[in-house]
Parts: sequence; C-alpha cells; structure tokens
Amino acid sequence: MTRDIPKAELHCHLEGTAPPALVRRLAHRNGIALPDGLFADADNFAWTDFPDFLRAYDAASMCLRKAGDYRDIAYEYLAACAREGAIYVEMFTSPDHAAEMGMSYLDHLEGTVAGIEDAERDFGIVGRIIVTCVRHLGAERGLAVARDMIAEPHPYVVGFGMGGDETAFHLRDFLPVFRLAADAGLGCTVHAGEVCGPESIRAALDELPVTRLGHGVRAIEEPRLVERIVRDGIVLELCPHSNLATGVYEDMASHPFPALLAAGCKVTLNSDDPPYFATSIGHEYATAAADFKMDDAALRAVTRTALAAAFVGEDTRAGLLARLDGAGQGLKTPASAVAEAPVCMTSEDDNTERERHET
Ligand code: ADE
Ligand code: ZN
Repeated sequence: MTRDIPKAELHCHLEGTAPPALVRRLAHRNGIALPDGLFADADNFAWTDFPDFLRAYDAASMCLRKAGDYRDIAYEYLAACAREGAIYVEMFTSPDHAAEMGMSYLDHLEGTVAGIEDAERDFGIVGRIIVTCVRHLGAERGLAVARDMIAEPHPYVVGFGMGGDETAFHLRDFLPVFRLAADAGLGCTVHAGEVCGPESIRAALDELPVTRLGHGVRAIEEPRLVERIVRDGIVLELCPHSNLATGVYEDMASHPFPALLAAGCKVTLNSDDPPYFATSIGHEYATAAADFKMDDAALRAVTRTALAAAFVGEDTRAGLLARLDGAGQGLKTPASAVAEAPVCMTSEDDNTERERHET
C-alpha cells in the first residue's frame, strides 16, 4: 500500500493536468466550442503519437481563458495529489498557452497562485511554479516568456523550464533564455532524452545551466552519459507511464527506472500530463512498488531525492523533509488527513452547471 507514503512531484504540466470533465466544464463556462475529436470517450483524450499528443494538449488548453480557470486547474490538481499522499508538487505553467488565449503573464500567474494558496489552506499540500517556454515556438518567444517572468517576480515561481518538440531548433539557441532565468536565481530544467536520444541530453548538459532533466531517461543508452549524470548529481524527472503512452518503451519491464537508480542516478517519479497518460502521482508510486519492486523505504528515498532537488526555498524544504520523516513515525500523512475532504470546488461553477456536464 503506497497511499500513505508522502510523495513529491517535480514534473507535471499544469495545462496537461485537467481531465476531460474539467476541460468540458471550463469550456462550457467560457462559452467555447472545443475542437471535434478532442476526446476518445468521456474520460480520455484522443491522440496517436507524440506530435499528436502535443496537438491534443494545445487544443484542450483552449478551455483556459481567465485567471480563475488557472486557479481552478491548479486547485483541483493539487487536491487530487493531496488525496494520493503528495505533500509537494512543482507545476510547469506555460505563459505561451495563456497568451494564445488572450491572457497576460500576470493573469496566468495570479490564477495559479490562488489555486496553490487555496489548496495549501484546504489540504496542506505545498505547490510551486516552474514557468516554461515551448521549444518549437523558438528562442525569441522563450526570451519573451523569461523577460515577463523576471519583470514580475513571485515567491512561488521557483524555476524555469522548457517543453515542446525536442526535435525543433538547437538547445544552444536557448542559452540566453536560460541564462536570464538562472541569473535571476531560478532553478532550471529542460525536457531532453524523452523523444530524442543521448545526444539531446548531452546538449542540455553542455549548453544550458540545468541541474535537472525532464525525462533524461534515454541516457541509459550511453553508459558514459549515465556516469556523467551521476558524477554531476543531475536529477532525472522520470515519468514512466508517460514514456509507455508515447511509445518510448513497450512496457514497465523495459523501462530503465531501476537501471538508472542502480547506476546511482538521482531519480524521481512524476506523472507529466496525467489524464493523457492514464496516470497520477499515486499511480506512479504504486507502479514503482509493483513493477520495480520498490519497498516503502525505497519509495520514501525517491520522495527525499525529489524534495532535495526541489527548487523551493530552504525553510519550506526543511518543513517538507520534516513531514516526510514525521509521516514515517506515525504522524498523519496528507492522504490520511484529506481522505474525508469534500470533492474540490471550483471558483465560479454552480451546482447546476456541474450536474449538467458531469452526469
Ligand atoms: N508539453 C506537455 N507535455 C510534454 C511532454 N511530455 N514533453 C514535452 N513537452 C510537453
Ligand atoms: Zn513533461
């Protein structure tokens, strides 16, 4: 039973956490018609391969039109994580997606911050923000995102990252973008070694001031790269179900999580875009127990690795580590504490609307 193990997540895309029911609810609230073919059925998005996943993700993000929408997806995601025993979640947000829907950087930030504050008040879970740019939109757009972020510093914005199509552009094109973020004191991470192989990871470590890698899983194909990752203490934000869903690996038996751990890499467990990949942070821990044969102590060690690598401030980190240790000594964990909590409320929905769209 992994439910009561305190969990920490470093890699999930906020826009990608909204399940179909929430996407439909927000679209209805905003009077938006979602594109045909977005859903495979009531509970699943329709997509085929990685580029098609990015397309579906962009289409679903169209439901987000106001700061309150960002508040609601952040709140609902953190509530769901808390129910599964998570004590800390870093969420990637994408100001480019917000801008596409007419929102300013501050709109998206204020909404997300409100969701984080409300979730901590209601469930005790701590959330923080990693602002991301989108690789296939190019370095100029990345620079604009980084500049907006630096112009409006916020204590909950603790990191900078980049997702999107790993085959687009060269990582060195993005050095000025990441330099801005790093020089402003933010932790940096980048998606690499998810779709592309070891060369993508080498480029990330050679070119950018990153201490963590989004995925980085394909380092396993090059033993010397694994040695470098171990030597430099680079943290891998591994997302096993994401990798299976996008076809990087055929099944859990082929996933290199255990091999990377055994080689001495700092590995963490993450859900990436949970409803697209039929997963959740709780499911990732449960799968690690079942398929990677990790006992409670090993899973707690994964949480410790994530908390140590979190871009959060030191006081908050110390408090989270104390909760991890306290939970091992019979204190109530968040999962126990929130098990009876009511299903989360959104900021503007009324019950009539929810009944209409969720029955
Ligand atoms: N954007 C959202 N999810 C992503 C992923 N898994 N990889 C790259 N970019 C993303
Ligand atoms: Zn990702």
